[in-house]
Amino acid sequence: MEVADVLHRGEHAAWSLAALTVVGRGDGPPALMRSAAELLAALGVFDTADGALRGLEHSTPHQVAAQAAGTLFKTAAVARGDGAAWSAQTDEALRAQGRASAQGARAFAQLALPSMPDLARALERPGARMLDVGTGVGALAVAYAEVFPQLRVLGIDVLDRSLGLARQTLAEVPDEIAQRVTFRRLDVAELVDTEGFDLVWLPAPFIPEPALRAGLRRLADATRPGGWIMVGHGKYGQDAVEDALNRFQTVTYGGTPLDGPTATAWLHDAGFDSTRTVPTPPGSPAITFARRTPRA
Ligand SMILES: C[S@@+](CC[C@H](N)C(=O)[O-])C[C@H]1O[C@@H](n2cnc3c(N)ncnc32)[C@H](O)[C@@H]1O
Repeated sequence: MEVADVLHRGEHAAWSLAALTVVGRGDGPPALMRSAAELLAALGVFDTADGALRGLEHSTPHQVAAQAAGTLFKTAAVARGDGAAWSAQTDEALRAQGRASAQGARAFAQLALPSMPDLARALERPGARMLDVGTGVGALAVAYAEVFPQLRVLGIDVLDRSLGLARQTLAEVPDEIAQRVTFRRLDVAELVDTEGFDLVWLPAPFIPEPALRAGLRRLADATRPGGWIMVGHGKYGQDAVEDALNRFQTVTYGGTPLDGPTATAWLHDAGFDSTRTVPTPPGSPAITFARRTPRA
């Protein structure tokens, strides 16, 4: 491919996302709406007769608009050189990301939990605790509290804006759920917790490497004997362009482009054992599980 091809394809892709933003929001000037819809119809994703985007089973037009705008805002932040691609997103885009990540709680209960010795029982006990590192808008933390009725979840984050949105998330759920979820402004590298967690979620693509490495040692101390940690990380080794794109995105978010073997090695160094990288559906992060040695 030539540089001119990348420019041409990139221009197509960027303007197509802009059209999705305009049509998904549905509140632009009529001439703009019409021409954006014309582009999407030519791409085959807009039904002119219905006046609607095609094939939206799992998301609303507003959510599509937020996702499309999110990509444009993040890449624009990189192009401007302001180096804050993650926090450059709108509140709606952060919420959309949260909603997507929240699906992980049910997937975890169905697909992963049955193969994690003793954890299902631990999560059913009164006093069961989970730590959600990088809790963002808190959607994943709330989803875990919904799936496991005894579980108390602590969500930590370093961004005040995210924590403000997380408190709004909590205000929208029933009291019974809300009273089991707590948010705290805390860097995982500085975590101290004496009560202990049965389960920890750590999304490496959003945590800077020094905080991730220091955090892993703190998390080993904070995980109850027999408790588990799940590290979300990149899927590498399938395709050179996808791999490089994934690393580039991760670095612009300020996170760590970690692969399975490195996740395993770092978990062992931090004091975890029984590590295992499990297959996950396309589009989801890879996950490596590890355990604190149970008491004899
Ligand atoms: C992708 S978001 C999490 C999405 C989340 N599951 C939700 O439901 O919205 C990742 C978060 O990690 C946070 N983060 C980055 N570095 C951190 C650190 N050292 N300690 C704690 N949180 C951190 C970021 O501020 C960001 O809000």
